[in-house]
Amino acid sequence: MCSPLEIIRNNKLITQKVAKTLSNKRFKHTIQVSILAGELAVAYHYNPHKAVQAALLHDYAREITDDVLLFLAKKSGWPINLVERNQPMLLHGPVGAYLVNQELGIKDDEILEAITYHTTGHPKMSLLASILYVADMVEPSRIYPGVEVLRKLAFQDLNLSLLACLDHNIRYLLKRGVLIHPLSIQTRNDLILNKNKKGEV
Ligand SMILES: [Fe+2]
Ligand SMILES: [Fe+2]
Repeated sequence: MCSPLEIIRNNKLITQKVAKTLSNKRFKHTIQVSILAGELAVAYHYNPHKAVQAALLHDYAREITDDVLLFLAKKSGWPINLVERNQPMLLHGPVGAYLVNQELGIKDDEILEAITYHTTGHPKMSLLASILYVADMVEPSRIYPGVEVLRKLAFQDLNLSLLACLDHNIRYLLKRGVLIHPLSIQTRNDLILNKNKKGEV
């Protein structure tokens, strides 16, 4: 089986395009997310090739300005909500998915969906989307209080770690007094309901 690093090397064109699109710092973050997403994919019996590809592309639209994000989201047919209109940065997921489809010919729906929801989450997230969300949050260059616990949890129980990552993000947003995307709340509610359901069995 190929290691995540080998898979990254096999995706030379994508990697080159991403390197050109992103700052050095964000490119390094992208590589770390890709390695970790590949490792998590193996741990949870998912296709590591798809996980690495989704991770390589997840922040493709992250350095696009707010105005252009709003323009591209509208062009792609994305229904922009009030929170996204206020904080267009939240659109870099859906706009990124749109751009990698248009510019790089990425057609895999699961990869596009994982990129779309990597910032907000989604109550019906696929395994790939969950892997990407968690890998993005806990890759080795991320430093914030509590990251070690989240990092460890990522390999123990993916759903629990996803819930802990959402809790962390929502707590951070509450502290800053900013808007919270409804999908993040819905995803958290859904994870808690499923967790409780499991507990009842
Ligand atoms: Fe992102
Ligand atoms: Fe990221």
